[in-house]
Amino acid sequence: MPRKTEIKDYIRTIVDFPHEGIMFRDVTTLFADPRGFRMAVDQLLHPYAGVRFDKVVGLEARGFILGGAVAHQLSAGFVPIRKKGKLPGAVISEDYQLEYGEAVVEIHDDAIEAGEKVLLVDDLLATGGTAEAGIKLVERLGGEIIGCAFVIDLPDLGGRKRLEAMDMDVHTLCTFDGL
Ligand code: PRP
Ligand code: MG
Repeated sequence: MPRKTEIKDYIRTIVDFPHEGIMFRDVTTLFADPRGFRMAVDQLLHPYAGVRFDKVVGLEARGFILGGAVAHQLSAGFVPIRKKGKLPGAVISEDYQLEYGEAVVEIHDDAIEAGEKVLLVDDLLATGGTAEAGIKLVERLGGEIIGCAFVIDLPDLGGRKRLEAMDMDVHTLCTFDGL
């Protein structure tokens, strides 16, 4: 097997998961590799050298793994955005569209203070629906989103354009064509 040099080399593609026609981009192989995981965390942080963040917000579920490591590196706090019904305290919620139907994400209503600087982190940007819901939650609490960082961009699904239309700074490490 050729030596892995780029982030993309560590990402496994599973054909027809979770249903036929989907090429699932599996980051568990990236996370499981000591060099791959360090590269991913380092590269997510790269554009923000010298920037001070108060909080890193991670989107369930794979955004928790990356976001925790990124927050530690930044000496920032970590805040989870979770699917509905998982957080124990008082929350605010946002609905967003899935391929089939709707979903709801939530954040604790005291997790971010007004004016705090936030980095939003997830593994993958597809339609941008999940990230948009996360951005709205952070902004409703008064947080200022300085950047949105993802390992994978699926540009054909339009997420980057969608977030940039919201004036977000979008940082991604690699792209895959198609769905
Ligand atoms: C995947 C991925 C992103 C989201 C991107 O998560 O991890 O969070 O979809 O899609 P979008 O840009 O079209 O919103 P998923 O909803 O499968 O849940 P999980 O991370 O909890 O497995
Ligand atoms: Mg996810």
